Amino acid sequence: MSSERLQKIISAAGAASRRQAETMIQAGRVTVNGKIVSELGAKADWQTDRIELDGEPLLRAAPVYLLLNKPYGVITSLSDPQGRKTVADLVTLAGISDRVYPVGRLDYDTEGLLLLTNDGELTQGLSHPKFEIEKEYQLDVEQKPSPDVLKKLEQGVMLADGMTAAAKAFAPVLAENGFWRFRIVIHEGRNRQVRRMAESVGLVVRRLKRVRYAFLTLNGLATGALRHLTAEEATRLQELARNQRE
Ligand code: URA
Repeated sequence: MSSERLQKIISAAGAASRRQAETMIQAGRVTVNGKIVSELGAKADWQTDRIELDGEPLLRAAPVYLLLNKPYGVITSLSDPQGRKTVADLVTLAGISDRVYPVGRLDYDTEGLLLLTNDGELTQGLSHPKFEIEKEYQLDVEQKPSPDVLKKLEQGVMLADGMTAAAKAFAPVLAENGFWRFRIVIHEGRNRQVRRMAESVGLVVRRLKRVRYAFLTLNGLATGALRHLTAEEATRLQELARNQRE
């Protein structure tokens, strides 16, 4: 038997993201063996303690792992006060009623591969600050990036929040839409990182799409479509997340 922080237990149960779980605890919505626990450091044991959220026993949801090909103009959020379409709307539209949360985020104007899950442990592992997971982006830019520009992107550029880590940038091709298309592989996950990296070397980004996350690609998945990960893919991802934490 082992005790874990309450917010970790709640998010692992699929009831909320880690941050939402913290808010629920602070709001006094969580009880352990009948007593309200509102401090964030508190621990409990799944096996032996009776944990309740809003008076209902906390049940472990079956893990769900989804891979979405996010379209342009959809917000990576569960709800939007401005009424914009969210990734949660796409999950519902696909007939999936599980409550899943995005792993990281893609900008409103970025397309491509986004993972969604109710496995809080996995999200936590993959979102570790020492993130080493490869993310590959396809950029359409107005002007042809020179070898010098690509080299700068690879070696690291100075952004407002510091130097970017080493990356990989591939040679551009002229795409059917008339823009120059190239790919970049990064390991970090800073806010609007790829756009800011491109801007810092003078490139005007007209389209941005994430095409790979670790070993997962968009292969055959139409824009706006989503699919469940296979059991093998989910296990591989869990192993990756575990390795991030160690
Ligand atoms: N980098 C960006 O600039 N935007 C994204 O959505 C993802 C990575």
